[in-house]
Parts: sequence; C-alpha cells; structure tokens
Amino acid sequence: MISALKTEFARVEDQVRNGPITPNVSPEDIRRHLASHFDFARAMSLDEAVAEVEHMLATWQVQVTHPRYFGLFNPSVTLASVAADALTAMYNPQLATWRTSPAANEMEKFVLDWIGAKFGLPKGSVANFTSGGAEANHSAVIVALTKAFPRYGDDGLRSLPRQPAIYLTHESHHSFSKIAHMTGLGRHALRTVATDTRLRMDLEDLERQVAVDRAAGFAPFMVVGTCGTTAAGAIDPLLELGSFCREHGLWFHVDAAWGGAAILAPSLRRHLDGIGAADSITCDAHKWFSVPMGCGMFFCRQAGGVLEAFRAQAAYMPGRANEDALDPYTSTMQWSRRFIGLKLFLSLAVYGEPGYAEMIERQASMGNLLKQLLAASGWRIVNDSPLPLVCFMRDGLDISAFLRSLRERQIAWMSDVRIQGAPSIRACITSFNTTGENVRAVVDAMNRMASEQAAQLVRA
Ligand SMILES: Cc1ncc(COP(=O)(O)O)c(C=O)c1O
Repeated sequence: MISALKTEFARVEDQVRNGPITPNVSPEDIRRHLASHFDFARAMSLDEAVAEVEHMLATWQVQVTHPRYFGLFNPSVTLASVAADALTAMYNPQLATWRTSPAANEMEKFVLDWIGAKFGLPKGSVANFTSGGAEANHSAVIVALTKAFPRYGDDGLRSLPRQPAIYLTHESHHSFSKIAHMTGLGRHALRTVATDTRLRMDLEDLERQVAVDRAAGFAPFMVVGTCGTTAAGAIDPLLELGSFCREHGLWFHVDAAWGGAAILAPSLRRHLDGIGAADSITCDAHKWFSVPMGCGMFFCRQAGGVLEAFRAQAAYMPGRANEDALDPYTSTMQWSRRFIGLKLFLSLAVYGEPGYAEMIERQASMGNLLKQLLAASGWRIVNDSPLPLVCFMRDGLDISAFLRSLRERQIAWMSDVRIQGAPSIRACITSFNTTGENVRAVVDAMNRMASEQAAQLVRA
C-alpha cells in the first residue's frame, strides 16, 4: 500500500506545485457538471468515479497545499499522515470505548501525553482529539463552567444566581461567540478586553473589567489567552495571565490552535512560556503539525472536571475495561469516535521531534524572509509576531483590487484583515514546501503590481 501511496502523493504534490492556486468557477458551473457526470440512479465504476472526483478537486478549489498559498492555517500534509487516514478508513476503528479499540485508544493517549508533557502539563492531566480548534475551545468552556458552577450540569445556567462572564480580546478566535451561544451563556457573556500596541491582552484592562463585573453582580469564571491569533499571530502574555487567573480563581484557557506547534521549535518555544500553567489548552494538529483536517486536541489539567462535564452511561455500551483506561464517550464531547489521532501519531513517528523542529523552524525562517523583503521594498509591516504571519500595507493601495489581481495572476493566495482598525494584507507561511525562491518571486511580483497600481492611479 505504501509504495502506491508514495507514488500518488508525489504525483499530486507535483501537480499542485505546478498548477494554479486559485480556481475560477461559479456554483452553476459545478452544479451543471455534477448533474451531467453523476447519476445515482445507475452504478458507475470506482475508477471512473474517483477519476472524476479527483479532477474536480484538482480544478475547483484553492490549492491550500501549494507552496505559494500564504493563507489561513491550512497546511501542506505529510505523507505519513495521509497513510494514517487511509489506514483509519480501512480498519474503521470505533474509539468510543477503550474495550472496542484498545490499540487505537492507547496510541492516541500515547501521543497526547507526549504533547501535553511538551506543554508542561502535569501527569494526571487528560486530553482528547477533537474535530478541530472550535470543538476544543467548546470543550474548554463546558469544563470550566462545570468546575465553576457545580449546578450547571444538572440544573442548567438558569439555576445560577449570577451571570457568568468570559474574558478575551477582539483578536481571539470567533468560535467563542458561537460557543457562548451554543452553551446557553449567550453572546453577551463575552467581555472584550483591550489590547496593547502588539495586539496582546492588556492586563490592566482585564483586572479592571473583572472587578467592575464582580461589583455589578456578574460571575467572571474564565480567561482565554491566545497563542498565535488568527489575524495577526499575536501571543497574549501567558505567564502573567496564568498568575492573574490563579490569584482571582479564574479558569485559564490557552487557545494555541495554530501557535501551539511552536513548542517543538527551539528558537520559538520561549514565546509560549507560561502555557504549562493553563487549566486547558487547544492545539490543532491540522494546522502547524501539517496533518489533514480534522485533527484538533483538547488538553486539561483538571481530569475530574472533564469526567464530570462529559459523563454518560448507557447500558448498550460495552462496560469499562479497566479503571486506568477511559472510555472516550464518557470523557469527551463526541460519542462514536474516529481514530483522529493516528495521523499525528504516525507523522511524529516518521519525522521524530528533530524532523518536526526543523520543519517548523524552516517555516518560521520563511516568514522572517518575507517580512524582511517586504520591509526592504517599502511595505509597512503592521503586526508584530515571532510566528510566520506577516500583515502589511502600502499607502494608497486598493487592497481588494490588489488581492484579486494577485489571485487571478496565480502569484499567491493571501487574505485581507483589519489590524488596529486599518485594512491590511495578511500572508502566513503554512506549507513546509515553501522555499526562499517562492517568497522572493512573490515579493518581486507584488512590488511590480503595486507600482502598476500606483501608475494607474496617477493616470486616472
Ligand atoms: C486561534 C484559533 N482558534 C481556533 C480556531 C478554530 O479551529 P478549527 O477551524 O480547527 O475549528 C482557529 C482557526 O483558524 C484559530 O485560528
């Protein structure tokens, strides 16, 4: 199986590298194509169906594994992780209970314990794989509520005498808005704490808002620090937030969905100092650990809170095998459970820690190169992150027209964001295949395009 997969993997990698990044297609084009190629009323051969599906994927998507995709946190993927997904699909292990899939459950525990220890979480912490960062953040809020308000689980939020509040910044991930809605806290339970000039949470404002809320009869219970914000790659002051939360009896969650992988990189890990003091951590392997979606992770030092939050009992489920072996359906949000963790397990086994460190360091150095080249050619860098995410701007630039043209000419894929309220371009190195040559070619092309746009403005 592996030799066939290697050949296919190399073929797809090569095809993506040499092909367009951004498709040009409308919903009608795709619907017409589907209607004319597929008809579930009759059978078709697997060869024919797969060839057609692959053609559609190769033609009609933003190729996020392209070395010049500088977009959101969608990585190139390792061969080992692709092999893992194929194995998982073939054996289809059910991880809801330990007894049904002992090997798979223990492999997940093995890799989660290893990463938890890298973060500095103590023995006795628990962790599970999730569909992604949003589910891990959701798990954190549920466990934090369960710990802070013992009646929440059985009697619901309406039994609480005071309204709970969560503290984060406008740079925190927007999954928290949905989570506040879904948990019944309500979106107004989120308090937006001010940020400093580097977009990091301002501790003085946090302290002030917690005090004001307490005096007004609210119940502050959780602070979310982000390690690598989505828009700008900012890292909140984790050490200070940890001390503040301990002192004030608040749950400290670190959303390290993207930035968490930097714990393996010797030159970057100091930026994560303090993460080990978190009550819970989100980290997505399907971001900077370069495995396919969905592969999130939720870590929690309070095993008791997790077991209380997700407790379940059902006579039709196989009984617990052993006191020391958790049944994931009683300790996580999901019930039936795919072998999500194998892609990270196999990839770590194949690359080893040094291989991963090198991969992450190389991407960080590509980010530094991008920043240097942009600054040297007159772009203004408007964010400040040690991670490979650069936000930049140029006076008078029409960002929408510029990005449209960048994509149409297949130079690169980047997005637009607002930093401190002002529009800018966001470029993130998400592929381990991005080279210095790619970065230089993109910056050269952008410089030419910016000059063209400026010349057009003068003529107009
Ligand atoms: C900081 C952060 N947290 C959480 C998420 C949500 O992760 P997912 O899309 O895997 O659910 C993201 C997604 O980009 C993110 O950047």
